[in-house]
Amino acid sequence: MGNWLLILTICAAAVQSCVAVDRGNFKTCDQNAFCKRQRATQPGNSPWEILLDSLNSTISSLQVQVISSRSQARLQLQLIALADSTLHFELDEVNPIKLRYRAQESLSGSPQLSSLKITEQSSDSISLSFGGTGKAILLVKPFRLDVYDGDQLVISVNARGLLNFEHQRVRKSKLWEAMSTVAQTVGSVGSSLPGKAYSWVLQWLPWSSEAGRNEEPSSEPAEEEMKAEAETKHPDEKPVEEEEEPGLWEETFKSHVDSKPYGPTSVGVDISFPGSRHVYGIPEHADTFALKQTKNGDPYRLYNTDVFEYELYNPMALYGAVPFMMAKRQQGTVGIFWNNAAETYVDIEESSSGSVVSSLMNLVSGGGNEPHQQTHWFSESGIIDLYIMIGPTPKDVVRQYGSLTGKTPLPQRFALGYHQCRWNYNDQEDVHSVNKGFDLHDIPYDVLWLDIEHTDNKKYFTWDPVKFPDPLEMVHNLTANGRKLVTIVDPHMKRDSSYFFHEHCEQNDFYVKDKSGKIYEGWCWPGSASYPDFFNPAVRDYWASRFALDKYEGTSLDVYTWNDMNEPSVFNGPEVTMPKDCLHYGGYEHRDVHNMYGMMVVEGTIRGQLMRSDYKLRPFVLSRSFFAGSQRFGAVWTGDNIADWEHLAIAVPMLLSLSVSGIPFCGADVGGFFNNPNTELLTRWYQAGAFQPFFRGHAHLHTKRREPWLFDEQTNKIIKASIKKRYTYLPYWYTLFYEHEKTAVPPMRPLWMEYPQDGETFSMDNQYLLGDSILVHPVVRSGEQEVSVYFPGVDTLWYEIETFRVYEAPGYQTIPVAIEKIPIFQRGGTIVPKKERARRASSLMTKDPYTFIVTLDKQGKAQGRLYIDDGQSLEYQKGSYITLELNMEGHTLSSKVTNQGAFETPESIDKIVIVGLSRAPSSIVDNTGRILEYRYDATSQALVLRKPNFSVSNEWSVNLKM
Ligand code: GLC
Repeated sequence: MGNWLLILTICAAAVQSCVAVDRGNFKTCDQNAFCKRQRATQPGNSPWEILLDSLNSTISSLQVQVISSRSQARLQLQLIALADSTLHFELDEVNPIKLRYRAQESLSGSPQLSSLKITEQSSDSISLSFGGTGKAILLVKPFRLDVYDGDQLVISVNARGLLNFEHQRVRKSKLWEAMSTVAQTVGSVGSSLPGKAYSWVLQWLPWSSEAGRNEEPSSEPAEEEMKAEAETKHPDEKPVEEEEEPGLWEETFKSHVDSKPYGPTSVGVDISFPGSRHVYGIPEHADTFALKQTKNGDPYRLYNTDVFEYELYNPMALYGAVPFMMAKRQQGTVGIFWNNAAETYVDIEESSSGSVVSSLMNLVSGGGNEPHQQTHWFSESGIIDLYIMIGPTPKDVVRQYGSLTGKTPLPQRFALGYHQCRWNYNDQEDVHSVNKGFDLHDIPYDVLWLDIEHTDNKKYFTWDPVKFPDPLEMVHNLTANGRKLVTIVDPHMKRDSSYFFHEHCEQNDFYVKDKSGKIYEGWCWPGSASYPDFFNPAVRDYWASRFALDKYEGTSLDVYTWNDMNEPSVFNGPEVTMPKDCLHYGGYEHRDVHNMYGMMVVEGTIRGQLMRSDYKLRPFVLSRSFFAGSQRFGAVWTGDNIADWEHLAIAVPMLLSLSVSGIPFCGADVGGFFNNPNTELLTRWYQAGAFQPFFRGHAHLHTKRREPWLFDEQTNKIIKASIKKRYTYLPYWYTLFYEHEKTAVPPMRPLWMEYPQDGETFSMDNQYLLGDSILVHPVVRSGEQEVSVYFPGVDTLWYEIETFRVYEAPGYQTIPVAIEKIPIFQRGGTIVPKKERARRASSLMTKDPYTFIVTLDKQGKAQGRLYIDDGQSLEYQKGSYITLELNMEGHTLSSKVTNQGAFETPESIDKIVIVGLSRAPSSIVDNTGRILEYRYDATSQALVLRKPNFSVSNEWSVNLKM
């Protein structure tokens, strides 16, 4: 109590992010009992063995028990073959005291089954084939699963013997206490009913806290019998002394006590990637893209938390968690998804030659003493629910993962434009003048954002009546220029009896409970707050219903949503979040579901937006917290970064990490959230942000205003040019997002996604691709005059997008980067669609004509695609869109309409630029025989065809007579 009052006072003074945390506010592995225990598991001598007698199988699955020769504890293993070379590995307790939590919400539906065949079985192993090409071998003693791609061993589970599954047990001291209560309750019959009494204890104990606490066992015979029975049921329990090792049944961090009523329940196992030297994924960490060795420090932590002024290049947890990892070999790629929403750690260690897995590789693959990555995964509760995807290409793995957890549906076009945010735009007048400012200075933007101060005392779904007396009028002012509004709606509800939302939650029992079953109260922006239990479907329905236009007053269909602080952030909670022993719907502890809370909030919001438009318009929500599957619900950003160069630089690996882990619609606050960027940093940040998926300027309450026109002329001019450049590429972005929904391949991709065998790209943090055509190398250092750009691809040409200067790959080239320069290149062999007319917002560009940039490869060829629809509705899902295949070959450029549903558009093509032509053609004729006008520039080797005016809906071609 005292603590949070103090924090509040500091907050009131600083009006800061209130948490004012430093590293000391977050646990290290050493301060975390289960992390310490799991990490202490020694490799080698795994006690776990398969009980072949228990083997069962169906056409797509296999079930078998695994027993510990040390403790005799039994686990149920299930292997299920899924479509698209995916194997599902599930390990749970046999007869658990309490059902363990299974994270189902992460999945986008029931995965499609495939066939699993036992191809060979002996007393040592079971060989399997799955999903057509996959092969696996289950080793009996010690238990191990080896997965192969063809004949190459690519994943091995428990090869190091780190499987450690803490089965649930009854705390002995509690058992005796409870028994005494039983004995008292059943009186003289108690001693004759030890079995029943024991079951009663088992069923009841985990929920009980105080029963019989200080009482001595009252009946010796009952105690003896119960103890005997307890030991038969749980023969592997350790002696009392060991069991009471610190942190098993209660854990304290700072002033917070985690009551752990179920005791130790963590699960962990090692997963090795023979042949792979690089692993990626497991966002969110402010670290390099290729994950680092963790042997000499803490493991990477996945535990959604609100970290104030987060540090860079370390494995600390941040706001979101995606327990997905990709491992890359020279010749192939595999992925694993550890579907567990509890606090999770991942240790990464490069094998040394002579390690278990190296010897294994030698044995099975012949040779392979090469170093490779060995990982160790452990979670505080839940089950081992592992999906293994065998690729073999990076695009195969993202598709396999995408079919499990879903893809980001195509956003509305406006969401890909520029977003202007700050904490806070003060009032309606302020909004009005910022909106005008953009027009006055001829800078496009699509969305104005309102942070928490717009509400009536931090009561979400309301407006400050003084500062925002007529929100609808304000919204109309924005929409009149084709723009939208986003308001923030956080999931901490002010405990104020006059607040309808709070009242409804209280009346309907909608809040998360504390360990004693009372409504949990925490501290956040509104002061005392409670947290709706989004795991309860009725709560999500209620939340969704509040977005209806007649409920959320002052909004229209042009108002969208920002869900922040949804880790959930609790200023006075342990590690700035909710205590793990809080209780959720279904009787699960917060411990079990923590990393998924934020995603469940967004699910409700998305549904609310869909409902309010009668499922006609695509929703848009930005979330700070996320989990595997969050991609189905919209965009995320990297939280409260800092206005410094290092934070600008780290955005690339952080966004790549999200992108390859299924979350493609992601961005970082442009300009940096905390502190004031100087003009050079701000300029470079806009230039970088314009080529990252979610593009939003945002700043802390206490920073100086940053609207571009407030800076000197040059800064204003370059920022304006960067934003405009973003807008010219919107057709390309939009096509990429459409393709993502089809293929799961992210728009922002590491170079190795297109060049999987180019080792030079495997640990690259400073450049990336947009689709397969655009290469971006943002300038992220102060005073940089030139950068060294790596051009990938054999025999490939890359054209600088402004000058069309050509660079030949593969290799590094030095590129000058004066302040107005963004080093962006288009690959030879591609056709990129653009719209070059400057408008105030993307909605005003819908009828504008296209420009195609055709950059030829060495054979004079190029291909590209364009996707077009109405930019906002869900009709595209019924086929109402146009797709074009563009192709240049033998001096003929042609457009083929590959889909034309019920969608009509007046859009045309009024400019075609063909780059890489060594000489001018003598004439250019289209498919109707019309002679077209053109201009050819010998220096840039670019030809510009003006006003061909082809309709996008028709097929056409142009032939260059050479
Ligand atoms: C959190 C968000 C930040 C927002 C602030 C106030 O710190 O990360 O973006 O401006 O809360 O709502």
